[in-house]
Amino acid sequence: MKPEYKKKSIRSYVVRAGRMTDSQRAAFEKYWPVYGLSLKDGPVNLDQVFARVAPRVLEIGFGMGDSLLQMLQQETDKDFVGIEVHPPGVGRLINNAGKHELSNLRVYLADAIDVMDDCIPVESFDRVQIYFPDPWHKKKHNKRRLIQADFVAKLRTYIKPGGILHLATDWEPYAEHMLEVMEAVSGFVNEAGVGQYSPRPDYRPVTKFEKRGARLGHGVWDLLYRKESSGD
Ligand SMILES: C[S@@+](CC[C@H](N)C(=O)[O-])C[C@H]1O[C@@H](n2cnc3c(N)ncnc32)[C@H](O)[C@@H]1O
Repeated sequence: MKPEYKKKSIRSYVVRAGRMTDSQRAAFEKYWPVYGLSLKDGPVNLDQVFARVAPRVLEIGFGMGDSLLQMLQQETDKDFVGIEVHPPGVGRLINNAGKHELSNLRVYLADAIDVMDDCIPVESFDRVQIYFPDPWHKKKHNKRRLIQADFVAKLRTYIKPGGILHLATDWEPYAEHMLEVMEAVSGFVNEAGVGQYSPRPDYRPVTKFEKRGARLGHGVWDLLYRKESSGD
């Protein structure tokens, strides 16, 4: 399986050769027909896809999907759409979701920007979450960071009025950049107050990586912004 993406001048990810394990490969055969959605299918009707009307969450860049899997199990009253360009991560998540017979997940193996442009109807999500996006440490690579004014303004259209955008990072300069972008973009209110970070909400699982970081004294910054109900 290869990720779907359209040509663009700047990408927020590197397309890796992505060696898959046998079980991830088998997962694609068994579970992609259950969980997979494709850019090629165009606009998606999520009520039909999930066969119910429920609060909906979008996760962009779920990596290996372990924290998303935990949320699927914790928040069974919600439906989740995950978007990731890394095939082994998608394979791992659908394998685990399939083994647990979870029905509240669909995934795109694609660039989130293309999925938003081609597939997602406006105001589809009660929550959008982006956890530990690639920090692109070097100054000359900062432009590849996902969290930028244009991207966030686009993302906002897919969030329901009153819905939440939740960002988290463990790289302080990126946290500061996120805060700057989010405070400047119109139509969002910081849940913690202007210019403040939020405590981690209980629904976001602490990752293994984050636990190790905490032992080493590294910080994690959560940002929670609510989309204003009016002013669109
Ligand atoms: C640093 S990893 C973090 C993964 C995971 N959220 C975690 O906390 O472990 C960032 C992930 O975002 C994905 N990603 C970056 N840009 C993306 C895009 N435009 N569309 C979909 N996935 C993207 C990358 O493939 C990568 O797996």
